[in-house]
Amino acid sequence: MRITNVRARTLVINLIGVVVGYSLCLLQSVDYKNASVPLHQEKIEEVQRHISSDDHVRSRRPQGLQNLGGPRKILLDCGANVASTVQLFRETYPGGTDYIIHSFELDARLAPYFASYSNHVLHCPVAVAGKDGNITAYTESAWFPDKGLVHGNDRLWGGGGIFVHDEERDDAKAGRQLGVRNVIPMVDLSKWIQENTTPEDYVIFKLDVEGAEYEILEKMIKEGTFKWIDKFYGEFHGSLPVPNWPIERRLELKSTLASLGIKQIDWAAQNKRYHDMELLQKSDVPFDAPGVAGDVYSNCSRSPGGPARLALTVQVGMNRKAAHKLVETIRAHRSNMPVTLFVYGDFVQEHPDLITKWADRYTIGIREGAPFPAGHWVLQNIKVMRMSMVSAVQRMREVGLQPAYYCPDGLSERVREIAKARELRLIQPTTSFPPTVGTLLTEDNYYQYMDVFRNPRAIRILHERISNGGILSLDSDHLDSYMISAFLMDYLYENSGFELVSLDTCLKS
Ligand SMILES: *[C@@H]1O[C@H](CO)[C@@H](O)[C@H](O)[C@H]1NC(C)=O
Ligand SMILES: *[C@@H]1O[C@H](CO)[C@@H](O)[C@H](O)[C@H]1NC(C)=O
Repeated sequence: MRITNVRARTLVINLIGVVVGYSLCLLQSVDYKNASVPLHQEKIEEVQRHISSDDHVRSRRPQGLQNLGGPRKILLDCGANVASTVQLFRETYPGGTDYIIHSFELDARLAPYFASYSNHVLHCPVAVAGKDGNITAYTESAWFPDKGLVHGNDRLWGGGGIFVHDEERDDAKAGRQLGVRNVIPMVDLSKWIQENTTPEDYVIFKLDVEGAEYEILEKMIKEGTFKWIDKFYGEFHGSLPVPNWPIERRLELKSTLASLGIKQIDWAAQNKRYHDMELLQKSDVPFDAPGVAGDVYSNCSRSPGGPARLALTVQVGMNRKAAHKLVETIRAHRSNMPVTLFVYGDFVQEHPDLITKWADRYTIGIREGAPFPAGHWVLQNIKVMRMSMVSAVQRMREVGLQPAYYCPDGLSERVREIAKARELRLIQPTTSFPPTVGTLLTEDNYYQYMDVFRNPRAIRILHERISNGGILSLDSDHLDSYMISAFLMDYLYENSGFELVSLDTCLKS
């Protein structure tokens, strides 16, 4: 019972903390620096020795500030948890793939979550703190079926802290269930920053360390370490029991930060957002793009007094080989008809060479950041949708594209809302191959036949559904898209009677 009351109070204090945190937020980065401090060359080299450089994507991209010996772009990810900040940053932060990321995490069992990232240094298990040494870290116990509720919910978050309530430390079922303890290295973060980065580096500092922030920030202020910091994200934890840090001292620290012009911007990786995400990700859809942001288009306007119009599009899947075959077949067709290719953010990131080549000739639209299993995109909550779409647009920016069209994998109010926020025009093809409504392809009516019989069946189905023109889409993941492509284009070009147009023309009234 007592624990429940403590938890309820904690929740209220946490909520107040969030509100206070928000009101302290500032939307632009603050320059704390004093430009006259010299470079610490040996320290740059020491850090660079730790950096893996196997990132094939990055190595193809301009190096930006990463030139050897020059200032670097660095993200300090303190309280890294399950790599949620690394993921959010790499997916959505402008230029996020150019940053060296140092992640500090005290729970050794979370280390595997960082394995896939390069240009990344993991310090784990390490607790960031106000001094060097060793310390006992309390971390969450492994899941078991009747582990019990945390704040009324089943919960599994990994991580833990060095400042914890007695009952969560002593009982694997209380509070945050911090039943595992280990003595781990503790790092004086202020000193580490000064020794491992230079004031000339562009340093983004994210601090979410379950109460350890007070000692760290006080020491950073005392030692002038904010001269090394360009942007400060994080969270305060007002209710965690930090010895010698009564509420008055915590408030005083916050007002000192405010008086020094040091603003903490809210970073909430668990919500897949940071306070200035929308500001940094303002839409750059060309102002003269036809259509209205967030509206859904599946038909083409008719040319005045002329024939019905048809726009050909391709939904490019993650299979590069299949996509390449289909697009090259389309490119080789003598009609030179305009085509729009919809691609996932991940496809752009993995095959920038292909996208750049295709963009010379074709309109590039977007799909989601990455494919979801069939039917699962529309079920996602708004936070996941936002990260996915911001990521998709960001990947396009990195290859110099400003897409206006989005072909979603399913429509819902949330999908429309997220598209509108990015000023994207939603495209729902009039008909698609393979068809998703009406006569579907079955073993009996289609798949039992060999290609010579399939080809006309597939084209007939498409013909019947686009008798009024509109938007026709081929899915590159279906091998028959390639098989029928040249025959289909012959039909469209020679016999359909449609005016074959770009999506731009299609949407213009
Ligand atoms: C921390 O613990 C390690 C391993 O037990 C030990 O070698 C080291 O001396 C300790 N460091 C401090 C500062 O106590
Ligand atoms: C778009 O095309 C579909 C199918 O051809 C048709 O049912 C619908 O009325 C059209 N919508 C508009 C706005 O013209």
